[in-house]
Amino acid sequence: MKKELVFSGVQPTGNLHLGNYLGALKNFVSLQKSKSCLYCVVDLHAITTFQNPKELNSNILETTAGFLASGLDSNKSIIFNQSSVSGHAELAWILNCVCRVGWLNRMTQFKDKAGKNRDNASLGLYAYPVLMAADILLYHADKVPVGDDQKQHLELTRDIAHKFNTDYNHEYFKLPDPIINKDAPRIMSLRDANNKMSKSDVSKYSRILLTDSNDEISTKISKAKSDSLKMPSSSDELSERPEINNLITIYSSISNIDKDSVINLFCDKEISFFKSELKDIVISLVEPISSNINEIKSDISFLKTTLEDGAMQATERARKTIDEVNKLMGFSID
Ligand code: TRP
Repeated sequence: MKKELVFSGVQPTGNLHLGNYLGALKNFVSLQKSKSCLYCVVDLHAITTFQNPKELNSNILETTAGFLASGLDSNKSIIFNQSSVSGHAELAWILNCVCRVGWLNRMTQFKDKAGKNRDNASLGLYAYPVLMAADILLYHADKVPVGDDQKQHLELTRDIAHKFNTDYNHEYFKLPDPIINKDAPRIMSLRDANNKMSKSDVSKYSRILLTDSNDEISTKISKAKSDSLKMPSSSDELSERPEINNLITIYSSISNIDKDSVINLFCDKEISFFKSELKDIVISLVEPISSNINEIKSDISFLKTTLEDGAMQATERARKTIDEVNKLMGFSID
């Protein structure tokens, strides 16, 4: 039987952090074993908000190094950056003409990102989910690992695929399914457990980077917001204690021990004791990744070759779809 095809993308807008690793990359790595995977550094998505070209360029390499250092293997998966495969932008245009304005008006991420000043947001930010649909449909992906915040965009992808099929060819696009992994937790900010850990948070203490030194990790965990109680004795307490809940989630996810067992392990102990154990376990995860990133980043020509090789493989697949779509649209004169 043909292996299922997986596609996912990560924006090159800054350093990768622990939330990216535990929420996405760790799962990407394990999917490589059984599926045929494409992992894309989505630089065309990044420019929906202004990016300094020099910084964008270095972030593309940095994100690629983070992929490889986390265990993605270019012999198993196709690893590339989006702008190097022109089919993404080509298909996105066609899908822009399939997608309805009313569908995009419902996208909550656009509302959040554009904020009050909607007239001043780029048209690209508004059409962002259509480009994401193009990414996925270009390769006829079966499965898309995404976080909660992207589920609505995946629904939209299905709606676009369905309308394309209705308008042009009933069988053409497969409707992709999300992979929502219950072992891939949503890691929250260390400063405010109501927000996701994010590259764009103003406080650098809100996130642990995959390139942080052991000292930086220790400081960030010491400063992580908590409360003045002891460690919980039951999971019932977690909903009232979001910061502790987040730290326990991190411990559980790294150690592969379920949260109830972590609670039992630290039941009624001092938070400072738990934090010092947490530091050790985070450092044991991040230290080797961080040294891998530094090593890989120092070999720019290796990174470039990896991306070029991935782009070649992706282009071959993308070309086939674009040729077929051009025929369906009535563009190809033959
Ligand atoms: N929008 C996704 C995010 O911000 C990134 C992304 C772009 C993506 N294209 C994709 C994810 C295709 C999955 C599939 O997380």
